[in-house]
Amino acid sequence: MSLIIATFAALTLCFAPAPGAAAISARRPLQGNDTLASAQGKFELGLFSPAGSSDGRFYLGVWYKNIPGQTVVWVGNRATPLSGVASAELRVSVDDGNLELVGPTFASGSPVIVWSSNLSSSSSPGSNNTAEIRDNGNLVLLDGSNSSNVLWQSFDHPTDTLVPDAWLGENKLTGEYQVLTSWRNAQDPAPGMFTDTVDPNGTSEFFYMWNLSRTYWRSGVWTGRFFATMPEATRNVLFNQTYVETPAYRRVSNALYNSTTITRMVLELTGQTKQYIWVPATQNWQLFWAAPTVQCDVYALCGTFGVCDLSSQPSCRCPPGFAPALEGDWTVSDWSGGCRRSAPLWCPYNGSTTDGFVVLPNVKLPDDSLAVGAVQSKAECESACQKSCSCEAYTFSTGRCAVWHGELRNLQQLYADSGVSRSDVYLRLSAIGLRDLHNTVSKGGKLSWLVLVMTLVGVAALGASVILAWRILLARRRRMANQKGSSLTVYS
Ligand SMILES: *[C@@H]1O[C@H](CO)[C@@H](O)[C@H](O)[C@H]1NC(C)=O
Ligand SMILES: *[C@@H]1O[C@H](CO)[C@@H](O)[C@H](O)[C@H]1NC(C)=O
Ligand SMILES: *[C@@H]1O[C@H](CO)[C@@H](O)[C@H](O)[C@H]1NC(C)=O
Ligand SMILES: *[C@@H]1O[C@H](CO)[C@@H](O)[C@H](O)[C@H]1NC(C)=O
Ligand SMILES: *[C@@H]1O[C@H](CO)[C@@H](O)[C@H](O)[C@H]1NC(C)=O
Ligand SMILES: *[C@@H]1O[C@H](CO)[C@@H](O)[C@H](O)[C@H]1NC(C)=O
Ligand SMILES: *[C@@H]1O[C@H](CO)[C@@H](O)[C@H](O)[C@H]1NC(C)=O
Ligand SMILES: *[C@@H]1O[C@H](CO)[C@@H](O)[C@H](O)[C@H]1NC(C)=O
Ligand SMILES: *[C@@H]1O[C@H](CO)[C@@H](O)[C@H](O)[C@H]1NC(C)=O
Repeated sequence: MSLIIATFAALTLCFAPAPGAAAISARRPLQGNDTLASAQGKFELGLFSPAGSSDGRFYLGVWYKNIPGQTVVWVGNRATPLSGVASAELRVSVDDGNLELVGPTFASGSPVIVWSSNLSSSSSPGSNNTAEIRDNGNLVLLDGSNSSNVLWQSFDHPTDTLVPDAWLGENKLTGEYQVLTSWRNAQDPAPGMFTDTVDPNGTSEFFYMWNLSRTYWRSGVWTGRFFATMPEATRNVLFNQTYVETPAYRRVSNALYNSTTITRMVLELTGQTKQYIWVPATQNWQLFWAAPTVQCDVYALCGTFGVCDLSSQPSCRCPPGFAPALEGDWTVSDWSGGCRRSAPLWCPYNGSTTDGFVVLPNVKLPDDSLAVGAVQSKAECESACQKSCSCEAYTFSTGRCAVWHGELRNLQQLYADSGVSRSDVYLRLSAIGLRDLHNTVSKGGKLSWLVLVMTLVGVAALGASVILAWRILLARRRRMANQKGSSLTVYS
């Protein structure tokens, strides 16, 4: 992981202060398409529909006000979209002083509460509370009887983005964690498969996890100046990253050296966190850090039976004989559905099957294999797998046989320079699946012969015409030479 920090001195934006933004209150809700900007106009709060979506889902969000192409940094009702903006409002509840989002949903035409700050009435003293969006992107609910008292804040409930001043960690008093959770797909902010969270066992280490269960990247513990696996963070000239533990909390936070810098860290659909900086001169987000750096290090990025292959774009593909289980999801960068066999297996009971195997060469072996003892050859290993209907794959190398029962995850295509030991995995396919595969391969073979023949014909034709042209030219020169002196122009 490399931290490429160039001199970003010229890469900052200046904001003109906006006229005093009115706070949200019980008497003044935020309605429909209305938005609320922060005092200096850096951030904006309102309802949005994810870019590219066309089914009319609306979410409460915070985004940069002055950056084209709406970059959303926080989402309230992640999993409970509104079905329209017309009668939607973000308001302070007159009953208990909570900040709540009310509007129509796909289940109910009449407005319902889809999101709330959820404070118990004892801790949210009343209907005089107000809400505002701050210039660091924090949406805050303030105590009506003492406005320096923050009752609730979006920084305590991050989505997939960490902006400077915000934090990730644990509130030790409430036991709440501040975790980054990827979106489900490019058009759906509902919680996805990947999270970035502080060690629940109490150390300062941060873990990236798949499905809240499998850790695929670790920051290392805080050394006092940086996280153990990220020493390059000390060369960061944009912000000061610190981990702090008090009796009330433990958290990591980034403080900008220059408040005009615009930067954000996002846990993306690829399971990587990426730190971006906004470059006004080129009007785009420049990537300057990512973890893990290698996309295929993200656990099970490509779902069951999906193969992570750095040389394909996107990095997920299905093995031969398999196709994306949920085709539509792949188009919105959600590969978690993985792949399934194009033709189902046929295995009525153990020991009676026509299923066979297709080889997936040079892959990193998935975890959870079962070793099969007393097997001498590849053929015996294959037969051991074939005999059991629940066996999905096997591998045989250096005299050792291992099989997989159930779905395979985390298949990775390796190359000679991967530096990881490579093995061949044999995936179970039905006889029909194998036949279809054979047919497409031989069709592919015929096709490439056809292409080769046509290419040769083309090259030959090109060669012939070049020779012809050359001879015509020579003939012309000769004739011209012969006709020297005459005014006759034979060729024009
Ligand atoms: C912050 O950056 C801006 C834009 O580059 C620059 O004009 C300003 O002087 C910087 N402020 C400080 C305190 O360095
Ligand atoms: C919101 O904006 C859209 C597009 O500008 C418009 O069609 C719609 O009528 C507006 N809705 C409300 C409630 O203002
Ligand atoms: C608020 O509390 C309700 C009931 O406990 C829960 O279903 C809902 O998810 C909570 N909402 C938020 C935004 O935490
Ligand atoms: C809200 O403010 C009004 C006017 O200052 C006051 O009369 C009322 O008691 C306050 N309500 C609450 C719940 O604090
Ligand atoms: C308001 O709250 C702040 C912080 O909680 C506290 O320091 C201050 O004394 C309070 N002011 C009043 C008037 O209660
Ligand atoms: C936390 O500690 C328990 C018990 O020592 C251990 O089983 C578990 O793996 C630890 N969890 C993590 C995430 O390190
Ligand atoms: C993710 O975890 C949940 C709960 O532990 C489990 O029910 C679900 O099957 C898991 N998802 C996948 C794809 O394994
Ligand atoms: C970073 O922040 C810490 C804690 O606030 C502070 O002690 C340290 O001096 C800061 N480092 C730099 C380079 O400003
Ligand atoms: C088939 O094999 C599996 C595992 O090898 C075993 O659990 C299962 O009981 C067997 N079923 C039959 C019908 O023998």
